[in-house]
Amino acid sequence: MATNRTFTMIKPDAVENNSIGGILKMINEAGFRIVAMKYTKLSAEAAGTFYEIHKERPFYGELVNYMSSGPIVAAILEKNNAVADFRTLIGATDPTKADEGTIRKIYAKSIAANAVHGSDSDENAQIEGDFYFSKLERF
Ligand code: CMP
Repeated sequence: MATNRTFTMIKPDAVENNSIGGILKMINEAGFRIVAMKYTKLSAEAAGTFYEIHKERPFYGELVNYMSSGPIVAAILEKNNAVADFRTLIGATDPTKADEGTIRKIYAKSIAANAVHGSDSDENAQIEGDFYFSKLERF
């Protein structure tokens, strides 16, 4: 069953560039409601666990190092068709392939430092949101 929720992180490159405000503005203007939000930093161990699904990929080590290199903003977002609509809003993983007007086209530096994460399924949105937030932190 679709939950109408997705999970996002504003990644270290976008935080470093002072792009948190611009990205949140795009998210709100696209009709997403913020259910939960946290400004935090992943340890290498936590980043490794979060991205365990990519463990066998050649870029896993780079991904874990990068995602634990600085603070991030984690959030659960709500909207009809949240997972698919958020992936449309952020654009392709590789910003050189992202459509004009998408968050990654505007803010991402590279395929590794690609400004934002968006869940790829309702199931992963649930798992990823649960990784960061307790029930008491959701509104
Ligand atoms: P994200 O949506 O967070 O999900 C997995 C991440 O792995 C992805 O965004 C990219 O940041 C990263 N990634 C995917 N493919 C590559 C790649 N070829 N090289 C480096 N990082 C990658």
